[in-house]
Formats: sequence, C-alpha cells, structure tokens
Amino acid sequence: MQTVKTSQLKEGMITASPVKTRRGQLIVDAGVCLTQSLIAHIDFYDVEDVSIEEFTRTRSHDWNAQAAPTYSERITSSFEFQQFQKDYATAVERLKQIFTSILEQRHMPDAPVLCKTIQPLLSDASSSLQMFDFLHNMRKIVDSIYAHSINVALISIELGRWLKFSDEDLAILISAALLHDIGKSEIPEEILYKPDRYTEEEFALVKKHPEIGFHILRPFDGLDPRILDAARMHHERCDGSGYPNRLQFHQISDFAQIIAIADVYDAMTAARSHRAPLCPFQVIADFELEGLQKYNPKYILTFLERIAYTYQNNRVRLNDGRSANILMLNRQFLSRPIVETEDGTLDLSKTPNLKIQMLL
Ligand SMILES: [Fe+2]
Repeated sequence: MQTVKTSQLKEGMITASPVKTRRGQLIVDAGVCLTQSLIAHIDFYDVEDVSIEEFTRTRSHDWNAQAAPTYSERITSSFEFQQFQKDYATAVERLKQIFTSILEQRHMPDAPVLCKTIQPLLSDASSSLQMFDFLHNMRKIVDSIYAHSINVALISIELGRWLKFSDEDLAILISAALLHDIGKSEIPEEILYKPDRYTEEEFALVKKHPEIGFHILRPFDGLDPRILDAARMHHERCDGSGYPNRLQFHQISDFAQIIAIADVYDAMTAARSHRAPLCPFQVIADFELEGLQKYNPKYILTFLERIAYTYQNNRVRLNDGRSANILMLNRQFLSRPIVETEDGTLDLSKTPNLKIQMLL
C-alpha cells in the first residue's frame, strides 16, 4: 500500500482503502480501479491523498492494455487474500469438527461458538466488495459441504447487514447458514460429489437432505426455531416451485428465504469454477433468468442491487471485446447498466446482443 497525492492519481490505480470526505462520507470504496471521473470526484472533495495498492500498474489512456494484471490476479496476489485463504482452511476444519460433535457426540455448540468459525474471515475482508471478491476467487477449493456452508454463511451475513439485522439476529443467521445443509452429511459421498448429472433416483435421494437435516437438529432442546426452519425450508421457493413441501411465500421462514438466495448465489458461482473469473453482472442476469418471483422481493432486490452497486465503479469487458466503464446502473435491468466505451456511451438495456462479460 502507498499513499499518493490526489494531484498525482492516475487512471488504473486501485484504491487500497475507502476514500472519504473530511466529514467521513464515502466517495470511493476500497479495491476500486480509478477512472478520470472518479479522480475528478476525489479532487472535488479536496481529499489530500489516497491509499493505493502497491501492485497497481497504471494504464494511462490505453484502455485495452494487455500488460496489466487481471482483476482476479490483483485480488489473489494481495496479502489480505492470502490471509483469507489460510483462515478459510481453518474454518473448514472447525466446521468439520462441529458437524462431528453434532452427529456423533450429540453436542450442539451455542451460537457464539458457531459464529467464531467464520469470525476471522469476517475480519479479513474490509468491505462487502472485498468479501465477494475473495469468495469468487476461492473457487479452486473442493466444494465440500463445509466450504459451501461457510460461503453461504458469509453471503447471508452480507445480506443480513444490508437488511440492517441486529447483532443477535445475525448470530442466529450465521448459525442457521452453517447448519442448513447438515442433512447432506447423511447422503453417500459418491452421490453427493458425483461430477456427472444425477439419475432420477439419486436426485430424489439428494432432495431429502432438508428433511434429514431437520431431523438431525430437532432433538436439540432450545435450538432457535429459525435454525430448524432454515435446514428444512432452504430449497422452498416463494412461488411454490421448491421442495420438499412446495411451500408458498408466507409459509417460508425469513431466514430460510435469505439462505436460499445465498445458497443459489454460491451454486451459480461454483458452476463457473473452471471458466473465466466470475462476473457479478452475469450472476445478476442468471438470477433474472431463473425468475425473481422465486424469492422474497425485498431480499432478492436488496441483494442484487447491492451486488451491482458494489461493482458499479469497476472497469469491465463487454462480450464484443471492448473495455468500458460503468456509468450508471439501471434499477429495472441491474445486469445491464449504462456504460462508457472508447466509442461513446452505451445503454446495455437497449443492446440485447451486448453484455458485460468480465471485470477488468
Ligand atoms: Fe441444501
């Protein structure tokens, strides 16, 4: 990290910490690639200097420069990400031990102990942007139940914070997310981790995990009912298309509705583990395609809007190869903002053949 005077900022530099006005109002978040308009914005607020990532290479006016590291490379080479990776491996081991104590010793740790599992990971990421960037770049780790449950807990807590949940509710939400898939521990591993498509019988068996999880957790006296509901209802959908009981919107517990969104987000990003680095705008498009009516509108709109806003200052590449800056989000089409390319301004909601393909 280095401190750079505002007058010496250059396009392409990456902010290492949030840039704020003297009154503490956020101007640019950490991890953002500076554009000329952002630099002008920082200058307008008389900010003296800005913390910049050491590994930044500026691109000046060359929008298509190939030499600069990719967005993903910038993240994975950072000290913070390497710390996150270490803490993630520890969290996976801890959650494994917790599952063993629940399944074999019939001992249920309380919410503070469960929350401690992911506490270091929450401290490693200094912002929502960093948390999602870290998670997107963790895809090389084998997708065990434990890794998936940790991801779902980290995504759920971001959503819970955006929804302004109390600390007590967030602790229960973390516990519910960490335990939501515990029923999968009773499904044979050769089926659960099968690389090919499930047969009809296998899929029917896998679909039993919400009920199995509920029966594992039910005997524990005093367990918050929202944790039980999350295990049993996280595959239910608000339009009645889910399983196991095809519940409707008003029958599904709030925490199960939140965990459902985090679960699907994690599954969507996992499906891309062997392709190009994840593009959040593509995930938003995937949710829009899957059908937003499956989710609680308040939760899904908050989630997708915040994801889009998290990345709104990023440089991106379009599917025709052009680089662009995101100028303005479109609340009706969150995956299709207005962007600025070297050829001028483009409204992606009016150009169906063009889309954002990757972050730069
Ligand atoms: Fe599940």
